[in-house]
Amino acid sequence: MTIGTHPFSAAYPSYATTRALDDLRQKNYPLLDGIGHVYLDYTAGNLTPLSLLDRHMALLRDHVLGNPHSTNPASALTTTFVEQARLSMLEFVNADPDEYVVIFTANATQALKLVGEAYPFCATGEYLLTFDNHNSVNGIREYARAKGCRTTYVPVVLPDMRVNDAELASFLERPGEGGPRLFAYPAQSNFSGVQHPLDWIPLARQHGWDVLVDAAAFTPTNRLDLTRWRPDFVSQSFYKIFGYPTGVGCLIARKPALAKLRRPWFAGGTITVASVQGDKFYLAEGESGFEDGTPNYLALPAVEFGLQYISEIGIEAIHTRVRCLTGWLIERLVNLQHSNGATLVRIYGPRSDVRRGGTVTFNLYDRDGRAIDHRDVEQRANAANISLRTGCFCNPGGGEIALGITGTELSSCFHQPEHETHLTVDDFRLCIDGKSTGAVRVSLGLVSNLADVEAFIAFAQTFLN
Ligand SMILES: Cc1ncc(COP(=O)(O)O)c(C=O)c1O
Repeated sequence: MTIGTHPFSAAYPSYATTRALDDLRQKNYPLLDGIGHVYLDYTAGNLTPLSLLDRHMALLRDHVLGNPHSTNPASALTTTFVEQARLSMLEFVNADPDEYVVIFTANATQALKLVGEAYPFCATGEYLLTFDNHNSVNGIREYARAKGCRTTYVPVVLPDMRVNDAELASFLERPGEGGPRLFAYPAQSNFSGVQHPLDWIPLARQHGWDVLVDAAAFTPTNRLDLTRWRPDFVSQSFYKIFGYPTGVGCLIARKPALAKLRRPWFAGGTITVASVQGDKFYLAEGESGFEDGTPNYLALPAVEFGLQYISEIGIEAIHTRVRCLTGWLIERLVNLQHSNGATLVRIYGPRSDVRRGGTVTFNLYDRDGRAIDHRDVEQRANAANISLRTGCFCNPGGGEIALGITGTELSSCFHQPEHETHLTVDDFRLCIDGKSTGAVRVSLGLVSNLADVEAFIAFAQTFLN
């Protein structure tokens, strides 16, 4: 597609500064255009660049690498690569190594679980979180509740699905009862694409909260500067930033906050000494005390390469490209109308490219205003070789607000005797009869281009009339 004279170019002139990404797409992701695959699911996972694979495979071929829990040469070399990956991540988020540690985990979920299971929740503490969190952040509430700790949700508000700042401030400024308080939110919602303000971090800390920022959906297209914002905990999965490898994530923790955590167990790799007869263990300091068992040590060198790959491209270029394409996608979507003037698309989230990322969630409606089932949209997209996502994306709070599902409806559904321990998606659908149970999510990323967006618009137009 020639974009020089396309109205998009005039509307988003800064897109031209990201042209290097077009070359990168050809070189590193040839399959996309080779087989005509329209990939629109970057929030779920980035794509694997060929150069990263090659570099990683060459490293594995050219070195003898052993389990790092030893001092032999194969082990020592692995340790060097693992430590390089750790330092690369600290550098990537501009974190001072004197202040922060990087704990490697299997994914963002595992990072969040490390905090949840070890945070000193108690009856006089609180767990505060926004409505639009991923389930892996919601799930921490179960650890809080098990220790009698209050859990409070801060709502997001339609149509933009942002939090009312004054309301949040009232929660943060409320005096506590003396116990530790944890505030968790996504830097970018994986449901609506909303970017919540990072200046909530200093505000919350100033009022005595520990702050957990789920950066999983934010970092792939935005710079996260920990020296500037100084959150206590940050969760991340690496495949979301550069596609490969899967199975590796991290928890970045501020050392004083990490020192407050109380691990519920010990494991191989996490102790200095553990004794059977003496019935005691001593947790290792820093990240070692939190990395259970053998890390994914053959994959970790690829983390360093992946971070270098993104840094060489420049996160600002990625951000600019995604911002321009997202703005254009939204503009095009909201202008689609049936012949009777009824709008085809209702977006859940901001309709501008300001303080939002490249995740756009919506439902399609027919000419009589009836929602088109998101599962039908998905099936037709699959047939057209378009990869998108439908449902609630593990973000039930976002879905409930967007789709107007009320607490009363949910509670009457969950309290039916037959639903005490078991509820299928079909049962749930019956409970909220007449309402959509999900939405369609299109997300843009590293090598998205105008042709991807236009292909989706052409696909959406097939639902008109
Ligand atoms: C915002 C957000 N947080 C957390 C996660 C969990 O990531 P993972 O499944 O890699 O643990 C996701 C995954 O989609 C996400 O989008």
